Amino acid sequence: MSDDDVQLEARLAEQDVFEPPESFVEQANVTDEGIYEEFEENWPECWEGAADLLDWDSDYDQVLDDSNPPFYEWFTGGSLNASANCLDRHLDERGDEAAIEWVGEPTDEDDITYTYEELHREVNEFAAALRDQGVGEDDVVTMYMPMIPQLPIAMLACARIGAPHSVVFAGFSADALATRMNAADSEYLVTCDGYYRRGDPLDHLDKANEGLAGVDHDVETVVVAERLREGDGFDHDYADNQVAFDDLQSEHAGASVDPVSRDAEDMLFLMYTSGTTGEPKGVKHTTGGYLAWSAWTSQAVLDIKPEDTYFCSADIGWITGHSYIVYGPLALGTTTMMYEGTPDYPDKDRLWEIVEEYEATQLYTAPTAIRAFMRWGSEYPDSHDLSSLRLLGTVGEPINPRAWKWYYQNIGDEECPVVDTWWQTETGGMMVTTLPGVKDMKPGSAGPPLPGVDVQIVDVDGEEVEAGRAGYLTVQKPWPGMLRTLYKNDERFIDEYWREYSDVDSDDPEDWVYFPEDGAKIDDDGYITVLGRVDDVINVSGHRLGTMEIESAIVGVEGVAEAAVVGGDHEIKGEAVYAYVITEDGADEDEALRQAIIEGVEDAIGPIARPEAVIFTPELPKTRSGKIMRRLLEDIANGEDLGDTSTLRNPDVVSDIQAKVSDD
Ligand code: WT7
Repeated sequence: MSDDDVQLEARLAEQDVFEPPESFVEQANVTDEGIYEEFEENWPECWEGAADLLDWDSDYDQVLDDSNPPFYEWFTGGSLNASANCLDRHLDERGDEAAIEWVGEPTDEDDITYTYEELHREVNEFAAALRDQGVGEDDVVTMYMPMIPQLPIAMLACARIGAPHSVVFAGFSADALATRMNAADSEYLVTCDGYYRRGDPLDHLDKANEGLAGVDHDVETVVVAERLREGDGFDHDYADNQVAFDDLQSEHAGASVDPVSRDAEDMLFLMYTSGTTGEPKGVKHTTGGYLAWSAWTSQAVLDIKPEDTYFCSADIGWITGHSYIVYGPLALGTTTMMYEGTPDYPDKDRLWEIVEEYEATQLYTAPTAIRAFMRWGSEYPDSHDLSSLRLLGTVGEPINPRAWKWYYQNIGDEECPVVDTWWQTETGGMMVTTLPGVKDMKPGSAGPPLPGVDVQIVDVDGEEVEAGRAGYLTVQKPWPGMLRTLYKNDERFIDEYWREYSDVDSDDPEDWVYFPEDGAKIDDDGYITVLGRVDDVINVSGHRLGTMEIESAIVGVEGVAEAAVVGGDHEIKGEAVYAYVITEDGADEDEALRQAIIEGVEDAIGPIARPEAVIFTPELPKTRSGKIMRRLLEDIANGEDLGDTSTLRNPDVVSDIQAKVSDD
């Protein structure tokens, strides 16, 4: 660090409130603070403005139908098509403008620009192909693809013909793919041959095929996008139901498919996310409410304008990529960027090189990435011209004030507001964050709820807690982007999100409260600091993993009798997986078993869930009623003082485990 940097950091370290930069406010999409009051007074009609961002085939009759909570319906009676909203309607004015700027990992030669015209053509051809393969309205099409352009093309093609998509993150394992295809009864898969990671070609079809072997029903068609360059490919014979993406598209060259008019409440997509049980939850999002929500928040919070080149570094395999790489930005007719690779290849300045080359106007990323950038050092961003940036965003987990300030200073040059956006797969889009042209920023705090979003921090009895005290984050009123149910499981939908704070026998919407399972506190200005999950879900690099899911993978390994998984603090990932394992009688607590456990987890879920540490223990700390004391295991993982352990049935075990953790 230079002396200037040190001085600057010292100055910022003192500051805990930041005003929106003047240069930003001058041009911001939303600048009137009155919007908060206006939305409150005019709720739920305030959401008509969000619906107005879309083109409707037929108008809706009612903004909100809340007659059957928690099965809320939005913009009822209206119909529209998401792909027409993301493509067709922009053709006249923006047909020659870039819709997607795709950046391949290995070299510049790979990069592809898709204008709206071109993307529209690709999507039409693939929509025709899918239809030809028998995909009909409401058939779930699974996509198991990395960050290659065929992914958004396939998503939009599905949307065009009214087939919901279910995208499975490419880093997930074969088993995870099979579980999700089985849960959705999905008979179609779009995948790819491979992709590039840190310069090397990676075989993806092998993993897809292995997953397909675990699917319990017939799979009609498997479409394989061929991303690997000549010579880099792996040897695969296509099965009878497998066909190349390009071949299908060329068979339908020049095809035009009329966008199917979908009811506002028709499912646009499913997204599986981890919960407290081993079974992933199929979050259902709709065409009207979801699209309105992702478009409105993209405009109000990310400040997206059509002439922008907006860059979100998330993966489309997660909800962030759905809402804020694909649907929100394209609905607004802007240029959205997609980067295939990792931020440190070929060097640690790759993102900054991309920002400079494409003159990106916004950057939306995750705290885990920001912490890595910080560790790598400011010389990487400093060596590039980042002055095109106007706004910075973060999502996925709490960001500590130091990382926030580093981002603000080193990436934004103190000229860009930072929006710390709290939301979830289930909320469809942002819920709690500052409106960047209106509100002051407080590093470490996400901000107030968005206008029209009714968040309260409550205690166990559902009573609001006073400012400064920790409580549970709740959403007291429905919002258009909300999940509608868990696919084919209304019961679990109620159990997971509503039962805690609602009177579930009531049909008065006032009695229904949504519980996202996060802890939080609020300050005197109404700013919310999210403290993290309060369920058995951990957050690794901004991705949600269920501890039960990991535990069941571990007990599946031969020689393991019992396992408990918790999240321990990690400098870059936020949290990392700590696995406490009891072996079966006679099994050796050795390196071979440790490896088998790690592989077991990678096979069941994916490398993202790979345990940071596997700790063999003769017993797990349990309460007298037999519940595993996870909090205690977390404290042990973090090397913290444990306080009173007298409520344990087996207090001695604690010191045994502690000794093992410090050995490892
Ligand atoms: C969970 C949702 C939202 C897309 C990415 C993750 C945590 C998310 C923040 C934030 C503190 C955050 C919460 C939430 N989270 N954003 N700005 N500050 N925590 O989506 O996998 O559905 O996870 O991520 O715990 O419940 P997800």
